[in-house]
Order: sequence, then C-alpha cells, then structure tokens
Amino acid sequence: KKAALKSEKEAEAAARAAAENAARLERARAVVIAEDPSLPPARPAKIRDLPRCIGARVKVCGWVHHLRTDGKKLWFIDLRDGTGFAQVVLTGDLCRTYDAATLGREASIAVYGVWTKDDNGRAKGTWPGFELQVDYWQLVGATSSDIDMLFTKDSNVDILLNQRHLVLRGSKASSILRMRSIITQCFREHFFAEHYVELTPPTLVNTQCEGGSTLFAFDYFGEEGYLTQSSQLYLETGIAAVNDCFCILPSYRAEKSQTRRHLSEFHHIEAERPFITFEDLLQSIEGLVCGVIDRVADKMKDDMDTFLRASGGKPMPKLERPFMRMTYEEAVAYCREHNIYKDPETKTHFEFGDDIPEKPEREMTDKINKPILLIKFPASLKSFYMQKCPDDTRLTESVDLLLPGVGEVVGGSMRMWKADELLEAYKKENMDPEPYYWFTDQRKYGSCPHGGYGLGLERFICALLNIHHIRDACLYPRYRGRIAP
Ligand code: 4AD
Ligand code: MG
Repeated sequence: KKAALKSEKEAEAAARAAAENAARLERARAVVIAEDPSLPPARPAKIRDLPRCIGARVKVCGWVHHLRTDGKKLWFIDLRDGTGFAQVVLTGDLCRTYDAATLGREASIAVYGVWTKDDNGRAKGTWPGFELQVDYWQLVGATSSDIDMLFTKDSNVDILLNQRHLVLRGSKASSILRMRSIITQCFREHFFAEHYVELTPPTLVNTQCEGGSTLFAFDYFGEEGYLTQSSQLYLETGIAAVNDCFCILPSYRAEKSQTRRHLSEFHHIEAERPFITFEDLLQSIEGLVCGVIDRVADKMKDDMDTFLRASGGKPMPKLERPFMRMTYEEAVAYCREHNIYKDPETKTHFEFGDDIPEKPEREMTDKINKPILLIKFPASLKSFYMQKCPDDTRLTESVDLLLPGVGEVVGGSMRMWKADELLEAYKKENMDPEPYYWFTDQRKYGSCPHGGYGLGLERFICALLNIHHIRDACLYPRYRGRIAP
C-alpha cells in the first residue's frame, strides 16, 4: 500500500514536471531573436583565425563542446569547430529562445558577435583570456538528448570503438588526427625535398610480398586476388622509370596476433632507390626518421604543447645520430647476456636462426632505450626477395629500425638483383614464378643493385606521440574482430 502510494506520488511529480517543461518551452517559443541590421556585417571566421579578429564582428560555426548555464541570463559555451575551442557568451534573450531551451552538447550552431578580451580573464580554450560576445545566434543542427548516455571517457574499448564516429570529436582523438595529418605531410615534404617521385601502386594484387600466412584473399571476378601486403614489388619497377620513388598507401595483413602494435590495415610509407649500397640504405632510413621528426617539431612548435596537454603524452626525446647499429647475431648475444629468453619458463636462450619475436625484441629495445638499426638477419627468417650478404650468404642485407616503446617501425633491405638468384628463391619458397614475371623482368632488362624500406605510419605516430595502443593512431582502426564502423 505504502509502495503504491509512493509510486502514485512519483507519477504525479513526473506529470507536473512534464507540464512545467512544456509550459517553459511554450514561453520560450514566444521569445524570438533577430540579427540587428545596424551592426556591421559579421565576417565568417574559423576559431583558428580569431586572434586576427580582435574587436571585429565575426560569424563562427561549430559544435557545442560544453555548455554552462550559470543562471538564466548568462550562458557560456565552449564552441569547437575542429580548428580550436572558443569561449562564447550568450546573454539576455539569447538564452531564452526555444532553441536555447533545447540546446545540448554536440548541437551545431552559428554565433555572431565581437571577439573580445575577457574582463574576468577566465576564458579558456585555444585563446585563453578572449571570448565571443554574442549578439545573435542560430541553431544549425539540433542534438539528440541521449548524447551523454552513449559513452564516457572511461567506457570500455569496444563501446568507445563502436562510438568512434562520436569519440573522434573529443579533444584527445581529434588532436591525434590533426597530428597524423601533419606527420604525413612531413613525410611527403621530406621525400619531395630529396626529389623522390610519389607513385600509387595498386592495392588489389595477385602476388604476395611478405609470406602467405598474412594474405587476405578475395574473389577478383573469378580470379584469386589479394589485398596488398606491401607496394614494394611495384615500387621496384618504378625506379627505372623515375629513379628514387615512394608511396603512402594502405597495406593489409591478416594478422592473427592481437597486440598493441598490429593492425590488419595500416598505412605504409615505402621508398625504393636504384644504384645504392646497403650503407646508403641505412643512411636513408636514418635520414628519413630524423628529418621527419625535425620537420614535425618545427611545424608543431605551438600545437605540440596543446596536443600533449590534450593527450597526456610526453614529448619524444631528440634522437642522437648516428643510430646505434646491431647485427642480428649481436642481438642474439645481447638477449643471452641480459636474460631475455626464447622461453622464459624453461629459460631457453635464443640461438642463431631463431626468430626473435615482438615481445623479447621490445624488451631489448626498451633496455637499450635508443633507436636501433638491427641488421643482417638470416635469410631463413626473411622474405624471398632479400639480397644475401656478400661475405656470409647465410645472412641478408636487411634492416629493421627499432624504436623504444614501440619496437619495429621500419623494415627494409637490399633486393636480390640477379635473375637466376631470384628464380632460385621462388623455387625455395615454393612460389609459382608466373604471376611474378614482371618482377623477374626487372632483373632481365637492365638490373641494378637497389633497395628500399617500408615504415608503418601508425607505429611511427605511436613512437613520436607516446601513444600506447596503435588503434588510437587510426581514424577507424582495423584489426581482427573489428571492421565497423
Ligand atoms: O617489415 P615489413 O613486413 O616489410 C615490408 O613489408 C617490406 N616489403 C617493406 C619494404 O621494404 N618496402 O613491414 C614494414 C613495416 C613494419 O616495420 C611495420 O612498421 C609496419 O610496416 N607493419 C605494420 N604496422 C601495423 N600493423 C601491422 N600488422 C604491420 N605489419 C607491418
Ligand atoms: Mg618486418
């Protein structure tokens, strides 16, 4: 009985609240605002450009990042337009319209007013100490009221990834996207400054490059096709056309292992150079990594701090050149000496010829805590196309660049450039040479010593920005179990 009475009372209260709300909205509908035609016309501006608009009347469009309604007469909006955040002040009737009464986080709006020094000096955002004194505003797109129920920043990874399209709007995710764009631009600038030509090889292919076990196969109009693992083989055909060349394209790997640095789709920055030596190759990689880091630091002088604040990251230490060099054999010895085991349970050591997997490799890299050019891997561990070392044919002229915190970021090598060696290599790997005829032809018509490398853009971003998990470096990450959104 008591419970029934209580729920009756609750229902009454709810009905009263709904009626009050309806009345409030009805009153709000009666408040109509209009732009004052006597004011100077508002100049369209992005938040990024506001420091050049002090004292001017501007129109800024963006999204309500945060709304503070201190009483009925004074509202503060943190407006976000993707170029920055600005404090926006609404007063009087501007906070009393129907659109104001129903305004919520993530609604899109256009605000008109004067960009002014904030008297209280409390305005935050991209331009602390300044705010937009609004004289007129319009709702562009309303927001649904469930916006705050979809996720919080502490939601689990799968909820956050299902809502990735909305999570992207947050200050951390959006600043990583912006940094990623700048980093990509710096790679292009580096290559163009060194006169490389950008090529765009196909990503739908009928050949493998890095072993059959990570190939994504699909039906290509009745033929077997693959998503490319690497554009290397095609870049190799480009050197006789344009000399030094590069590409920035997605590569695909059907990686079964789920680690914090493996994706099934990643962006691959690859380069290929004719008439070089192994030493030239190593210097190219070092030059690329250091050159890009310098360019990024230069471009991000101001934004880097904002990014680090938004992401909680630490700045990357400057990399000393030349990078430390270590042969595969030295790495095996290092692991032995520092108790990094092949099998920690049985305390089995690595032997020459063993693959050093990701985890122990990272352990070693973090212990050394410097970039390492790990070179001369055994041929048995590496892809079919790698050139053997002239002084020890068990080994290849191959290189991985390892960076602290992330591990392998670059893989490269000199390429087998004699046709008979390549034909032998196909045979050894049980590969049908037929689909590779064009790759073999490179060795038949004016072959030359050449080499190149591939750098995983997302891994590089993780190293540069101190991002723990590679999925946070992607717009929409792809890995096993995740293909949406
Ligand atoms: O070492 P990988 O497999 O080398 C190649 O594909 C060569 N064909 C490249 C070349 O010489 N042109 O891959 C190169 C780099 C790795 O060092 C890593 O940074 C990145 O590509 N990578 C991945 N990144 C994210 N997820 C994965 N599953 C990756 N696999 C490779
Ligand atoms: Mg590799």
